[in-house]
Amino acid sequence: MTKRIALVTGGMGGIGTAICKTLAEAGHTVITTYSKSGREKGWLADMKGLGFNDIHCYQCDVTDFAACQEMAARITKDIGPISILVNNAGITRDASFKKQTKDDWDAVIRTNLDSVFNMTKPVLDAMIEAGFGRIVNISSINGQKGQFGQTNYSAAKAGMHGFTMALAQEVAKKGVTVNTISPGYIATEMVMAVPEDVRSKIVAQIPVGRLGKPEEIAALVGFLSSEHAGFITGSNIAMNGGQHMM
Ligand code: CAA
Ligand code: NAP
Repeated sequence: MTKRIALVTGGMGGIGTAICKTLAEAGHTVITTYSKSGREKGWLADMKGLGFNDIHCYQCDVTDFAACQEMAARITKDIGPISILVNNAGITRDASFKKQTKDDWDAVIRTNLDSVFNMTKPVLDAMIEAGFGRIVNISSINGQKGQFGQTNYSAAKAGMHGFTMALAQEVAKKGVTVNTISPGYIATEMVMAVPEDVRSKIVAQIPVGRLGKPEEIAALVGFLSSEHAGFITGSNIAMNGGQHMM
């Protein structure tokens, strides 16, 4: 295994934390972003307590292109070139379209979709130059099937995979793969924010009979980031307990 530098956006959240641990366990140097300062010291201390000493964090709002460029330059200078990028930061602002505001729309598109451009743009050239790169975009089952109350989120998450398919073709010959993972409902704060009565109806629609675990998504990120996954590119891999089969 070659030790590489991996950047995970939103890596202090539910799925992101599991991804950081998996990539660190694989022997990589892991860098994550946080947007709201306050929890980074505690989070890093928890990671160190678990024996992960090569995890670092940088403050960056992924909706801000200039901030992403600046952070990528700083990481390259402080640590080295990034060869694994996991575009994981995301938010929801659920409301039926009738009630959705322009602000709800903009926030979700900027955080879930613009962020993919903002973060990929400043790291791609170094991957091409090195002849190796792995980009994994964390989309959603609701980008594949749509979801009542999520016109903004479903559009952003479907858009992520359009990006994946187009970029995968552009960089395939350069040793860079680009893939999407579309998780179903995973037990994190994002899903716990759905009202309990609505959530229990959703869980009832999952053939496996439970919410997914962040570690299950992280294991797939680990594989897609590895050398063994060089022939997988432009894919959208569903991981949803059978809730949506294509
Ligand atoms: N399908 C069809 N009709 C529905 C519906 C559904 N899923 N949900 C609500 N309705 C209907 C209601 O029965 C009601 O009908 P009437 O007016 O005839 O009584 C009407 O829609 C209510 O509409 P409102 O705009 O008033 O909706 P609301 O304010 O009650 O709440 C909601 C809407 C906020 C979207 C709420 O249903 C909700 O939270 N749904 C969950 C959305 C969801 O799955 N989010 C996922 C978050 S986690 C995540 O996103 C991670 C991931 O990637 C999987
Ligand atoms: P989460 O626990 O809420 O974590 C989201 C992360 O995104 C947080 O670390 C947050 O960091 C970061 N973030 C939000 N806005 C940001 C911004 N502007 N700039 C930088 N970082 C920002 O959610 P999660 O469940 O782990 O979700 C992770 C990803 O998986 C998201 O893209 C989500 O859409 C996707 N997903 C989740 C599920 C699920 O069921 N949970 C299913 C499918 C897909 P701060 O708190 O510091 O802002």
